[in-house]
Amino acid sequence: MSTSDAHKEPVAAIILAAGKGTRMKSEQHKVLHKIAGRAMVEHVFAGTEDVNVAKRVLIVGDKREQLERYADKAQIVVQEPQLGTGHAVMQARSALEGFEGIALILYGDVPLIRPETLGAMIQTLSERAETCAMVVLGFQAQDPGHYGRLITRDDGTLIAIREWKDATSSEKQIKLCNSGVMAVRTPLLFEMLAELTNENAAGEYYLTDIVAIADKKGMSAFVVEADEQEVLGVNSRLELAQLETLYQRQRRAAAMAEGATLIDPDSVFFSHDTILGRDVVIEPNVFFGPGIKVGNNVVIHAFSHLEGCMVADDAQIGPFARLRPGADIGAGAKVGNFVEIKKAALGAGAKANHLSYIGDAEVGAGANIGAGTITCNYDGFLKYRTEIGAGAFIGSNSALVAPVKIGDGAIIGAGSVITGDVENDALAVARGKEIKRAGWAKAFRERMAKAKADLKKKGR
Ligand code: UD1
Ligand code: MG
Repeated sequence: MSTSDAHKEPVAAIILAAGKGTRMKSEQHKVLHKIAGRAMVEHVFAGTEDVNVAKRVLIVGDKREQLERYADKAQIVVQEPQLGTGHAVMQARSALEGFEGIALILYGDVPLIRPETLGAMIQTLSERAETCAMVVLGFQAQDPGHYGRLITRDDGTLIAIREWKDATSSEKQIKLCNSGVMAVRTPLLFEMLAELTNENAAGEYYLTDIVAIADKKGMSAFVVEADEQEVLGVNSRLELAQLETLYQRQRRAAAMAEGATLIDPDSVFFSHDTILGRDVVIEPNVFFGPGIKVGNNVVIHAFSHLEGCMVADDAQIGPFARLRPGADIGAGAKVGNFVEIKKAALGAGAKANHLSYIGDAEVGAGANIGAGTITCNYDGFLKYRTEIGAGAFIGSNSALVAPVKIGDGAIIGAGSVITGDVENDALAVARGKEIKRAGWAKAFRERMAKAKADLKKKGR
């Protein structure tokens, strides 16, 4: 259920992403940097999905070509030059022409706001009379630093937001700060923005000035408070890492709350979309990339790296396993140490326990892939498939040169290089002829020892 179902007003989101992001020292747009495998701006989009926004407007400036990929998710509007947050929001005016409802103003670099918080802001605004112009998301800052300060009355309504640069020393004592996120009635928003000036310490059009403008119009503004951690933004790589840590902490707690055992939670890294079944046990130092679904009773042993894969019930993965995109591990199957699986299905109960590469393959139920088996899937130009039948036994250190098909129940002798199809229940062995010579080793050792001793005698 959506968190905003209780209210009726349509909601649009305006997401600011025109800032230069200089402190990231990156060729990549700041909002494309990832947290838990997903771009920050996509976290923001996801948050607005949960509150059913009717429309999104993404305000872009520098490196805007990198954000064109989101044209299906948001109307992209250019702010050029960038004259402040108020000026940025003004650019959404024609995109929201005729839209009557609530505009949610978000920052593309503030990715961890919970949908519940956005829902609470929308709810708070829509419950209040039309004379309430907006709801501002505030927070009690541990160290208020350079944040804008929220100047409130005793009844909790806002008088103004004072930017740090413009604040008096007593205003700087205020700990209630502006997160930047707001819910504002619109088209009123644009009427207020039209009254902004840039007569302030920064010479910018401050979005925050609309609070005082509303107040002058006899309208009110209200504060909803969030936890400081929820409204943290990213300006540098260090802050990116700090948000990743926060996100992972929440994700681990959620995984445990849903019935997974994490032996050392701090060493497990989830993707934003990881899905775990019940009674999954995850040992230390496991990394989940995007696109993973894990069934019930699965054990993922230490130091395994997974991305884009499915692991069915009761399977065992690792230690030191690598499941790459397209790995599909069947129920009760086992993938052991130093085994890499890519675009390959392992049938129910199949085993690849040691030192293998299985790529572009299908392995039947109950098959046993011996240590060191390699599917040779690539000739430097194209990729080819290997099919291994149910119950087949592939001897250790075999190379299966694709395209190749090993029948059900077939046995491949250890050390074989198999280049042609093998029938069901057949034996295939392809290796050099074995030679045995009784006593040869002993005679060799004696001969060589004597030769060495003779040389020593001659003083060489
Ligand atoms: C802003 C708020 C401040 C608040 C703080 C929270 C204003 C005037 N101040 O300050 O009260 O405490 O955020 O972090 O709003 N952006 C544009 N175009 C612009 C300027 C900014 O798109 O012309 C975007 C940036 O990319 C960024 C966001 O708006 O995502 C905030 O801009 P930033 O310069 O960080 O604002 P602050 O000065 O930190
Ligand atoms: Mg900032």
